[in-house]
Amino acid sequence: MLPPSLIADRMRHIDSSGIRKVFDLAAGIPDPINLSIGQPDFDVPEPIKARAMRAIEKGENRYTVTQGIEALRTEVLALEKEVSGIGHESVLITSGVSGGLLLALLALINPGDAVAIADPYFVMYKHLSRLVGGRPLYVDTYPDFQLTAERLEDAGAGEAKILLLNSPCNPTGQVIPAEELERIAAWADANGVFVLTDEIYRFFSYDGPVDSIARYTDNVLLLNGFSKSHAMTGWRLGYAIGPRAVIGEMTKLQQFSFVCAPSIAQQAALCSFSLDMDTYFKAYKAKRDLLQHGLEEHFDFEKPGGAFYAFIRAPGDDGDAFVENAIRHRCLVIPGSVFSEKSSHFRVAFAADDDTIKRGTDVLCSLLRDGL
Ligand SMILES: Cc1ncc(COP(=O)(O)O)c(C=O)c1O
Repeated sequence: MLPPSLIADRMRHIDSSGIRKVFDLAAGIPDPINLSIGQPDFDVPEPIKARAMRAIEKGENRYTVTQGIEALRTEVLALEKEVSGIGHESVLITSGVSGGLLLALLALINPGDAVAIADPYFVMYKHLSRLVGGRPLYVDTYPDFQLTAERLEDAGAGEAKILLLNSPCNPTGQVIPAEELERIAAWADANGVFVLTDEIYRFFSYDGPVDSIARYTDNVLLLNGFSKSHAMTGWRLGYAIGPRAVIGEMTKLQQFSFVCAPSIAQQAALCSFSLDMDTYFKAYKAKRDLLQHGLEEHFDFEKPGGAFYAFIRAPGDDGDAFVENAIRHRCLVIPGSVFSEKSSHFRVAFAADDDTIKRGTDVLCSLLRDGL
């Protein structure tokens, strides 16, 4: 019999019961129509796979330097200078954006520090902030899910030590326009709030390019990775770019935790920079439109401008009950309560083949139309 005190107190700050309940419900459903998945439905492009296999055969299987191989850091920095306009030069290759997030929060947050998070939020933000002793300070963005400097100010987020920013956003698919990023940057600078910008969905953008807050402030740490843009979710590869002092502390932590990002993934990612992924991203715009057309007659929701999610108000404002019902009718979606302090919505992911999207939207509409 293990003593109850065996598990550290900090684990009480992490609650995965909401999502576990959905998985348990879904486990009993044969042949589900899955609109719950947060990863691309395409596979890793062939040149990346070939490069990984070559790397294994050539014996590139050992630890790399903690900060990541120099060739990859150089490529990443060149890309980010061009796309995000970030002014910093220090790069750390991480085990996915998740690895970067954990290291950054450990390096920056003292117990009791407030972490400003737009609600709805990516699940990890809440739980990792709490794990490191931080205090999530939620900025309500309902009903249009637009984070603005005004909403930050109204929520009293100026007392936060850091702001976690995610545009395009999981779970809402909303994109913060360039002018608002500029205002948020000015607000953060004026309030001494350091910004962590998670840009993992940057290239999944459907109504024009996505801008980066890194263009407007130097008080910023940019996190990005290869999980979504190149479907490399299982390869665990990402990066952080920011002030030398922050990257230095994160590198120290990585040395005593992850050690380095996977060596084979680092080698393989070297060829990603010359690949044209536009056809994939265009296909996702078509999927966004398919979802929109499939649902708009029966559901009123903000059109996603990026990522591959829509966040939709459930009938009776009861996202949990609606999702249980949808799952009973074989359509897997996620209750909004997993991503929010409210439970009025549900998340639909359109990272699926077109037939699945069509069948899924049919089921969701029939639940409303026929009151199933
Ligand atoms: C907003 C956001 N950030 C980070 C991650 C994690 O990415 P990675 O696979 O690079 O750890 C996800 C994955 O779903 C995400 O949606």
